[in-house]
Amino acid sequence: MKKNLQIAIDGPAGAGKSTIAKAIAKRLELFYVDTGAMYRAIAYKALNLNIPLKQEEDITRMARQTDITLEHSEARRVFCDGLDVTEAIRSPEVSRSVSVIAAYPEVRERLVELQRQEAGRGGVVMDGRDIGTYVLPDADLKVFLTASSEERAKRRWLELQQSGKRLSLDEVQKDMEARDHHDQQRAVSPLVPASDAIILDTTGLQVEEIVERILNLIKNKPEIG
Ligand code: DC
Repeated sequence: MKKNLQIAIDGPAGAGKSTIAKAIAKRLELFYVDTGAMYRAIAYKALNLNIPLKQEEDITRMARQTDITLEHSEARRVFCDGLDVTEAIRSPEVSRSVSVIAAYPEVRERLVELQRQEAGRGGVVMDGRDIGTYVLPDADLKVFLTASSEERAKRRWLELQQSGKRLSLDEVQKDMEARDHHDQQRAVSPLVPASDAIILDTTGLQVEEIVERILNLIKNKPEIG
């Protein structure tokens, strides 16, 4: 296998990106970088400091002064200015706010810089929305995961139930669709598959099946597998 392999996994909310990316990172002994967690950490901090989300300049200034660390151990804890925000960044409030701050070009610039630094440390599986199109344009493999909006909402709803958050399936689906719409329509780095990405529809597929398909894609690429 090629050294310092870079695998980009993009797609909308609930398409299974993080579960799949983590499993592949484990199988291939690569770092896993959850870029969504970085955007979430900035949204969380803005909410915590009561900075109105519409105030782009204030949010941008705050983002530049924020330190985000992703732990690479199994626990994969997320730290924002030294504070453990792993659970806090998954709240419905953060999920509703994050696509507003993710549309700000200078917030993206700051986080992309951190993401490329992470990739510079060795082989990575990185998931997000613009990894194949912008963050790692030369990634060895680019996968764009999709699934029906009903199935994606159901997966998210189950995750929220498991962490004790009681929202209706309908609410989760509406929030998710609003977020996807925002992510697809923004001017900078919108959610679109890279022209050289492999599109995988995960509707009705088990995690293991998807992981195997991706591992096979790697094996079948002679220059990397
Ligand atoms: O993957 P997630 O649901 O944790 O992502 C949270 C938000 O951050 C989502 O609205 C899209 C945005 N995001 C982004 O714009 N670019 C990325 N590379 C990752 C996430």
